[in-house]
Amino acid sequence: MKSDTEFVTWFRSVTPHIHASHGKVFVIAFGGEVVENGKFVELVQDFNLLASLGIQLVLVHGARPQIESRLRANQQEMSYVQGMRVTDAATLQCVKEAVGKVRVEIEALLSMGLPNTPMANAAIRVASGNFVTARPVGVLEGVDLQYTGEVRRINITAILDQLEQGTVVLLSPLGYSPTGEIFNLTLENIAAEVAAALQADKLIFLVDTPGIRQQTESGAVLLPELTVRQGKTLLATMETATDQPDEDTRLYLPWALHACEKGVKRVHLVSRHIDGALLLELFTHSGIGSMITRDPLQIIRQAEIEDIGAILQLIEPLENAGILVRRNRELLEMEIERFTVIEHDNMIIACAALYPFPDDKACELACLAVHPEYRKAGIGRILIDHLEDQAREQGYRRLFALTTRTTHWFVERGFSETTPDQLPRLKQNFYNYQRRSKVFVKLI
Ligand SMILES: CC(C)(COP(=O)(O)OP(=O)(O)OC[C@H]1O[C@@H](n2cnc3c(N)ncnc32)[C@H](O)[C@@H]1OP(=O)(O)O)[C@@H](O)C(=O)NCCC(=O)NCCS
Repeated sequence: MKSDTEFVTWFRSVTPHIHASHGKVFVIAFGGEVVENGKFVELVQDFNLLASLGIQLVLVHGARPQIESRLRANQQEMSYVQGMRVTDAATLQCVKEAVGKVRVEIEALLSMGLPNTPMANAAIRVASGNFVTARPVGVLEGVDLQYTGEVRRINITAILDQLEQGTVVLLSPLGYSPTGEIFNLTLENIAAEVAAALQADKLIFLVDTPGIRQQTESGAVLLPELTVRQGKTLLATMETATDQPDEDTRLYLPWALHACEKGVKRVHLVSRHIDGALLLELFTHSGIGSMITRDPLQIIRQAEIEDIGAILQLIEPLENAGILVRRNRELLEMEIERFTVIEHDNMIIACAALYPFPDDKACELACLAVHPEYRKAGIGRILIDHLEDQAREQGYRRLFALTTRTTHWFVERGFSETTPDQLPRLKQNFYNYQRRSKVFVKLI
């Protein structure tokens, strides 16, 4: 970090995310590839860091490459039906060995604390156990999948008991049946069902690709956010498209949608190849992967008294720069019902106010501000269109705005410059001739 100012800005930007995460339940799922990769130690340090911030963690690991290398070493045949492994008794033996080895390696790394920090000896407790009850998948396309199973039930009480004591819960891709049998499950199935049963705040899949990508004429484009409905449309178009979807999207997106529909608030797909990917996804505004939610993250709504703090944060730097006219908290409290805000992922990212002048059938658009990190994405346009509709519906015919530095922006949105004597009479009385704002008007 280059300067103290940058540090302070950075610290202020991450603190709300850290604060919002405290006490929340995150389910993080990763394949066995992650464990084989030499960078796993760094990932485990990030798990430790999250746990130390008071986040309740459930980790779900896979062991696919480790199982396959054992099967190859034993010269055992591998067969799949609809992408699912057929697990006969000999295969199950390899599954048990591979999963057991991966699990103890993860437990060992989680026991390290945060090396070279004051938290080096902070012992993070890990619990594994018989939390998942499984049933056999059965016969698919005439083939008995034998010991390949799916989740039947999750012992939520037992998991919550551990989480409440600050213990990290580690789940392996295995489940046990009431008849005492062991089944080989997929990590996607376990992660989605556990997250749903816990009503987790987040389910995060660490994947091979940067996230969910859509094929466009100019290549694959990462989708940073999508709703369940958009996800379903994407899967449907992928099925009919000639080019194959990303393997990760095919594998994880259906489970991500399933978890969201069952009440998980956010599902993320994040690259496992980026150092600190989890931290970047969780503690930066824009994240680095794809986030799926049941409902749209962005809503436009009338401001409420509780929004005043956030509105002040948004407008104060612009007031200090002389771009907006100063408004104090008392004035905002009195005028709050005039304000409309855009909320993105529970954060106020834009605001604007509409002041009616009924005698002149005109409205003033004022205090328009978009958070710097969300500019140039059409947010200002959405807000102004919304207020224009609102003014029109209320029977107003003219919308005007006063600005010193944003003239072209208004011109490009259909406003034209006029003179202060064209303002509603009441407004003219308050026109500040020292500030010399330009007046723009639009007939609506
Ligand atoms: C002006 C503002 C509201 C636009 O919000 P936004 O969400 O970025 O707007 P949009 O995405 O709809 O439009 C972005 C376009 O406007 C342009 N633009 C932004 N500020 C501008 C300005 N002061 N003058 C001219 N054009 C401007 C951007 O360059 C971009 O165009 P481009 O993509 O062709 O480069 C935002 O920049 C802001 O909050 N500025 C500070 C406060 C302010 O000036 N408020 C208006 C005072 S009344």
